[in-house]
Amino acid sequence: MATILVTGGAGYVGSHACKALARAGHVPVTYDSLIRGHRELVKWGPLEIGDIHDKARLIEVMETHRPAAVMHFASFIFVNESVAQPDLYERNIVGGTEMLVDAMAVRDIRTLVVSSSAAVYGIPSFSPITEDAPCRPVNPYGAAKLKMEQALARAQRDHGLSWVALRYFNAAGADPEGETGEWHEPENHLIPLVLDAALGKSEAITINGDDYPTRDGTCVRDYIHVMDLAEAHLLAWRYAIGNDGGAAFNLGTGHGASVLDVVTTARKVTGHNIPVRAGQRRDGDPPALVADAGAAQRILDWAPRRSDLASQIADAWAWHLTLRK
Ligand SMILES: NC(=O)c1ccc[n+]([C@@H]2O[C@H](COP(=O)([O-])OP(=O)(O)OC[C@H]3O[C@@H](n4cnc5c(N)ncnc54)[C@H](O)[C@@H]3O)[C@@H](O)[C@H]2O)c1
Repeated sequence: MATILVTGGAGYVGSHACKALARAGHVPVTYDSLIRGHRELVKWGPLEIGDIHDKARLIEVMETHRPAAVMHFASFIFVNESVAQPDLYERNIVGGTEMLVDAMAVRDIRTLVVSSSAAVYGIPSFSPITEDAPCRPVNPYGAAKLKMEQALARAQRDHGLSWVALRYFNAAGADPEGETGEWHEPENHLIPLVLDAALGKSEAITINGDDYPTRDGTCVRDYIHVMDLAEAHLLAWRYAIGNDGGAAFNLGTGHGASVLDVVTTARKVTGHNIPVRAGQRRDGDPPALVADAGAAQRILDWAPRRSDLASQIADAWAWHLTLRK
């Protein structure tokens, strides 16, 4: 049994990781400012309120709980917001992570698993994307995640940090037992917005661009179940303990689903008509992002188990009905 500090544990992916950690017999200590999280999602261990920019508070919490490792989810996450406010994203993602690894160095905590993103790749020149594809982010969110990974490589050199960056493609779904799920305010991820339209909370789902060079003209993404992501963190932690240095792994299914695929599947799962309307492309949206997660499968022994699109939407729908009732 180990204690793990989970930054951003009051958020979507972090709360699922807390559940997976607790289920494996560990104690997740959530460290979250609650700026975008929800204390109601902190169910599997203590909550310590604090900002990742607050080094003294981080050190105090590390002294109190003496974690063996850190899992770092705390971040702003919206591409469109990053386009409007690039400095905010640089400070939150790069500056915040630098502060966290500084605090870890003070407490001599050397193992870190962090959430990175497919956004580091930008518009890929081949698909599915492997980790050695060139990283040419096309929005400030992706640029900040890439700089964050570079900051970890510096901390590896300077403090002996052993780290794994998990480059998620699109997190989706919810805890199948309904104890936690996706809860962003405002929401701008596709599946919850589609489910809002199914519930009549919005008139229609807006398709942001239908003239991309994809099968049906709409953006293609690789949706990966959030519980599969959570389990990858435990495997990555084990890997980081056994291997000095740093590594980045893609997490996805290898299968792309277009916006229209999501809408069609959601209609079947929910039994609701989901009206669609045409909208403008969004700045910084690559046409297609599909993972080659072969390295995570071979090296971490990870495999997605719940990530067919219908299962992800069914789990998201069950959670959505609770959240939006
Ligand atoms: N959701 C996705 O599809 C997706 C895809 C790729 C990568 N990611 C990455 O996964 C991680 C988690 O994403 P999520 O969807 O769970 O986001 P989320 O917004 O649900 O959770 C993020 C949490 O971090 C906290 N936080 C933000 N800034 C903070 C700060 N300065 N100090 C302390 N706490 C802070 C928020 O309060 C929130 O609880 C992020 O790093 C994100 O970039 C998410």
